[in-house]
Amino acid sequence: MTPFEYLEQSEKQRTDELFMFLSFPSVSAQSKHKQDVQECANWLKAHLDQIGFKTTMYPTVGHPIIYAEYFVGVKKPTVLYYGHYDVQPPEPLNLWKTPPFSPDTREGYYYARGSSDDKGQTFAHIKGLESVIKSEGTLPVNVKFLIEGEEEISSANLPEFIRKNTKMLKADVCVVSDTAQFNKTLPAVTFGLRGIASAELFVYGPNRDVHSGTFGGVISNPATVLCELVSQLHDKNRKVTVPGFYKDVKPASKWERQQFKKLPYNEAAYKKAIGVPALEGEKGFTTFERAWVRPTLEINGITSGYQGEGSKTIIPSYASCKITMRLIPDMDPKDICNKLEKYLKKIAPNSVRIELKKYAGAKGVNVPTEGPWLDAAARAIQAGFGKKPVFMKEGGSIPVVSDFKEYLGLDTLLIGFGQIDDNIHSPNERFRVIDFERGCKTAAALPFELAKVKV
Ligand code: BES
Ligand code: MN
Ligand code: MN
Repeated sequence: MTPFEYLEQSEKQRTDELFMFLSFPSVSAQSKHKQDVQECANWLKAHLDQIGFKTTMYPTVGHPIIYAEYFVGVKKPTVLYYGHYDVQPPEPLNLWKTPPFSPDTREGYYYARGSSDDKGQTFAHIKGLESVIKSEGTLPVNVKFLIEGEEEISSANLPEFIRKNTKMLKADVCVVSDTAQFNKTLPAVTFGLRGIASAELFVYGPNRDVHSGTFGGVISNPATVLCELVSQLHDKNRKVTVPGFYKDVKPASKWERQQFKKLPYNEAAYKKAIGVPALEGEKGFTTFERAWVRPTLEINGITSGYQGEGSKTIIPSYASCKITMRLIPDMDPKDICNKLEKYLKKIAPNSVRIELKKYAGAKGVNVPTEGPWLDAAARAIQAGFGKKPVFMKEGGSIPVVSDFKEYLGLDTLLIGFGQIDDNIHSPNERFRVIDFERGCKTAAALPFELAKVKV
């Protein structure tokens, strides 16, 4: 039996197992799910053990890291696969057609939180490798799996783990499937990710919510001040106004812009897919440039005052908003947060007190666009998807990719199996059945192709 034949005859069982994996509410951001995250990790560890991997669970102060190994020989290349089993919060729940942790198959899609980001994609590699082990009795390369439970909350405990375990994690190349294809008929290799800097702004007014009749007009309203501050973060061309924000930003290379131009782009379809009447962004740049090679500042959530039923006449005691900035590779997350803080302190009125809480960030990365590893990945994609991949970038972030480069000296193959309309981080997240299946095939073909590379 060949690996592809094994995959064909085991589809039903594979789907059942995927559904089991998807049914754990492994929401890393919510403390009420701490035990569910642990149970998901336990299940995953047992599953890898059962396939024949030597698996270890490493607890952290947050959620556990799973490490698994399949060693075949010192002369073979070693491939380090990364994935994450944690997921984004599923809220708002009322918008889900079927519950986020009760996986469902509809119209050619698997629906569940984490189906595309990133349990389904990680599982495709596990199942692809399993098909090789089951049909050949072994693997053509040494495999190491690093699967973490904190990617969606910035991978705070992973860099230290990598630094402390460089020997264990030693490899020749990394593989990550946590991105999207270009579209439904064009698989892609991603050659760069943006980084991220995260912060939360608090504007404090009176020491409690106070009557808006008694005090309205006499003190600053924190909600108003917050909005004023937020409105001063961009200029009319949608450039970020924080002084020094663009200091380390270099223009995209000619080769990059040529690649982007080669990609099919249909603005009407793009708008329709996300339901916006028009696109809007930094003046002077195309959609792909804005999304992939320009830094941005976004408000992710904003809150103040009474939000329950009916009215309540108060001046809120405080207002706050969550801010993330997407960075391009040379920008430093800490430095950018400091610049934002300095600017906000400067423009805030003295009638309120402000605080900027700064959170862990991640650096952006560029990965090689040529070489034997990339050629091998392209051949595996051709085998799995029946098509050559195109080159693209992603605006999202995967913190570990720059850590692999920094601490292990390793480049990563970013070969995503998802789609831009998989609703990752949104209600009704989904993963196309056919993308999962082709992903499994690609994953089965990949070790054979990587084994051809001389190390
Ligand atoms: N899989 C995504 C990254 C991604 C997003 C790739 C969109 C391709 C397209 C990843 O799980 C993610 O969401 N990362 C976070 C990182 C953050 C929490 C530090 C992100 O980009 O917001
Ligand atoms: Mn992901
Ligand atoms: Mn994500």
